[in-house]
Amino acid sequence: MKPVINVGLLGFGTIGTGVVKLLQNNGNLIERRLGAKLQLKRIADLDITTDRGVQVDPALLTTDAAQVLDAPDIDLVIELIGGYEPARSFVLRAIGNGKHIVTANKALLALHGEEIFAAAAKNGVEVMFEAAVGGGIPIISSIKENLCANNFHNIFGILNGTCNYILTRMTNEGLDFAEVLKAAQDAGYAEADPTFDIEGVDTAHKLALLISLCFGTKVPFDQVYTEGISKVSSLDIQYARQFGFQIKLLAISKLTNGAIEARVHPTMIPEHYPLADVAGAFNAVRVTGDFVGPVMLYGLGAGMEATASAVVGDCIALARNINSGTSPRTPGMAYQPEAIETLPIKSMDEVVSQYYMRFTTVDQPGVLAKISGVLGAHQISIASMVQPESHDVGSVPIVIMTHVSQEKNVRAALAEVDQLDVVLEPTHLIRIENDLD
Ligand code: HSE
Repeated sequence: MKPVINVGLLGFGTIGTGVVKLLQNNGNLIERRLGAKLQLKRIADLDITTDRGVQVDPALLTTDAAQVLDAPDIDLVIELIGGYEPARSFVLRAIGNGKHIVTANKALLALHGEEIFAAAAKNGVEVMFEAAVGGGIPIISSIKENLCANNFHNIFGILNGTCNYILTRMTNEGLDFAEVLKAAQDAGYAEADPTFDIEGVDTAHKLALLISLCFGTKVPFDQVYTEGISKVSSLDIQYARQFGFQIKLLAISKLTNGAIEARVHPTMIPEHYPLADVAGAFNAVRVTGDFVGPVMLYGLGAGMEATASAVVGDCIALARNINSGTSPRTPGMAYQPEAIETLPIKSMDEVVSQYYMRFTTVDQPGVLAKISGVLGAHQISIASMVQPESHDVGSVPIVIMTHVSQEKNVRAALAEVDQLDVVLEPTHLIRIENDLD
């Protein structure tokens, strides 16, 4: 039993600062729970001069990552650099030196997880990553530990706080995407380069990890269908509300007949769903297991303190394993490595869904007949329709909700519709999810 577990931190940014603050504020509590001390031994960052608003012994700070990676006295390394490199090389080097890893880096694990977990298994260390999905929400340990007796059927998640904040303000205040994005950047909610967030890539990284954890399969990241929120218009949000729906950037995965759906896109969900109430920077994940049924976890998906809670929680779990001589205890990706499969991932053509379509057309007789004719020819059945009064001279919106249709047919139909001379703009298409079992 080690009375002190030494921790090295790579990356002294927002989350790193939160980790330092948490260890300082709650150090005594952690010691009472762990029966040992979690000692922050070294912090490496290229910038060690900026005042982060926390008191740190200057002797702990270094610009040389090797002083964390190669230090014989460090038991576990927290990687909070983010991105692919040098995070990947650093993590592999620390693992090679026999150090356990705690990381918040979903991009790294979604693309290089196989290599990293294989290296960890070879070196007898653990890699924990609760903070990588849903910030402070304990979804990963729930899947790996508490729910691990279940076969999972599906996953639905609101996994990006920036997108959810933008969509919430667009919904509540009738604002346009660009306007809210700028406000979010000015307020420090969105990154200066928000591409990964708003184009759905961050959500797709998180979904890929959840799919592997739930279904025990490899997920080639380029097979996760990814569509962000930059093309969602306030008009679509308004029409969605008229039909009783909210638009969310949803991560969706379903396991049916041995094949997996893996998709991230703006999705209309009924207003009465608990997921529709997830507002602002909050995240939520809903998984369904065969015995437990649906379970939904909700909380802050980003931010210094919530994410630090997950990071330090992982450190405590690792320290407990080290001190009980049981590390590694749980397989990194929730399944024994030799039991991980390569299940087929469905192409979007195979997906079936209900759809919202907004056509922008000239206002003249016969337009609706032409559009519905194309839809019918592609086996797409209309569930409901409105043609709201137009404020634009010369154009009119037609909004259609379909019955369940196959995506392949929908795409073929819209390619045809968009070529009609009465259709003035590319059609807006949003998938609808309204059969959460
Ligand atoms: N940028 C992410 C978000 C948090 O906005 O939710 C980190 O994954």
